[in-house]
Amino acid sequence: MHPRHSQRLPASFAPNPLTAALAKARAGGMEILDLTHSNPTTCGLGYPTEALTKALGAEDTLTYRPDSRGSALARDAVAAWHGRGVRAEDILLTASTSEAYTWLFKLLCDPGDEVLVPSPSYPLFDWLARLEGISANTFPSYLHERWHLDLEALEDACGPRTRALILVNPNNPTGHFLSRQEWDQILDFCTQWKLALIVDEVFADYAMEAPEDHLPTALETLEPSCPVFVLSGLSKVAALPQIKLGWIIARGEQARDLLEHLGFIADQFLSVSAAAQSAAQVALAAAPALQAQLRNRLKANLKELDQQLQPFPSLSRLPVEGGWSVLLRRPAIDSAEDCALRLLTEARVLVHPGHFFDLPGESFLVLSLLPEPGLFAQGLASALPLLAQS
Ligand SMILES: Cc1ncc(COP(=O)(O)O)c(C=O)c1O
Repeated sequence: MHPRHSQRLPASFAPNPLTAALAKARAGGMEILDLTHSNPTTCGLGYPTEALTKALGAEDTLTYRPDSRGSALARDAVAAWHGRGVRAEDILLTASTSEAYTWLFKLLCDPGDEVLVPSPSYPLFDWLARLEGISANTFPSYLHERWHLDLEALEDACGPRTRALILVNPNNPTGHFLSRQEWDQILDFCTQWKLALIVDEVFADYAMEAPEDHLPTALETLEPSCPVFVLSGLSKVAALPQIKLGWIIARGEQARDLLEHLGFIADQFLSVSAAAQSAAQVALAAAPALQAQLRNRLKANLKELDQQLQPFPSLSRLPVEGGWSVLLRRPAIDSAEDCALRLLTEARVLVHPGHFFDLPGESFLVLSLLPEPGLFAQGLASALPLLAQS
C-alpha cells in the first residue's frame, strides 16, 4: 500500500510492452541498433569542449546573483541569437522548455482550465498539463500530401475554459512547419477566442524539405493580435540538453504585459543555474557549427534511408519538412506496437510505433535521424526487409 498521493499522477508506472521488451533484451546482453536515438551528446558530434567547460566552470559562477528573469548577459546572448527585434527585456530564462510550459500554464490557467495541444505531437503535453491541474485537449492535424492543421476541429476543441493554444513549429515528430496561411488563421482564431498562443520552436533551425510557404518562425510577426510566447532552448539550438537552459520570448504588447507576472512565478523557483547562464553566450556562439554538423547528419541519414527504401515499393517515408525525425510508412499487417516488438526481437532494431505520438492508424513508425551513420545504415538493413514482408 502506497502513502496517499495526488490524482494528477499516472495510475501505474508499469512500462509499456516495448519498454519492457527493450529492458529484457538489454538485460540479456542483446546489443540493440537504436533507431530512436535522439540524444545529441552521444551520437558522435564534435563539441568545442574546452570553451564549453571553461564557461561552465567560470569563477564568476561561484557568486549567487538571483534574477527572476535570468542574467542580463545570458538574455542578451539569447536576444542576439534570435535577432528579429527580440530584446533581452522580452525574454525570461527557464531550466528547460518543459519548465517553460509549466510556468506558462501557471501564468495563464487556473485549476480545471484547458489548453489546446496539437495531435500528433510530442507526448509530454498531457502530463505537463495534468501535473498543473489543467487538461490538454487535442486538436488534430491531417495528412494530405503534407500535414495540415484541422482548423474546423480546432473550433470544436475550444470551450469556455480554454486559455491557450500550443503549436510546435516544426512539429515533432511529423516535421510539419506551419504554412504562412495557417499561421494567420491561428492568430485570428486565438484573437477571436481570447487565447494566448504558445509556439514551441525548439526545432526551427532544422528546416529540411520545407515548402516555400512555410513559416520559419513565429517571431516574424512583430505585434501579433493575441499574446504570443515563443519557446526554445539550448537543448536543440546548440545540441546541449544537459546544460538545462530554455527561454520564453514574449511577443507583442499583450504578452509583454504578462512578463512581470511570469517573473513572479520564476522568482518562486529561481531554477536556472549560474553555470547554465554563464555558458549561454559560448553555447550560442558554438551553435552554428553544431547545427551544421547536425544538418549534415540528418541529410546523410535521410539519403541512406532513401537508398535503402528503393528495393521495397511497399515502404515509403514522408517528407521531412524539419526536425530530427522521419516517419516511415509500412503495410499495416499488424499493429505498429507489434511491429516494433517484432523488429526488436527479430532484428535487434528499436523504432517507435506511431501511436507513441498519436499518429493515426498502424502504418507509421518513427525513426530518429540522429544515430551514427554506420549504425543507422545497419539498423535499416536489418529492419526494412522485415517491414516489407507481408
Ligand atoms: C517539441 C519539443 N519541445 C520541447 C522539448 C524539450 O526540450 P527541453 O530539453 O528544453 O525541455 C522537446 C524534446 O525533445 C521537444 O521535442
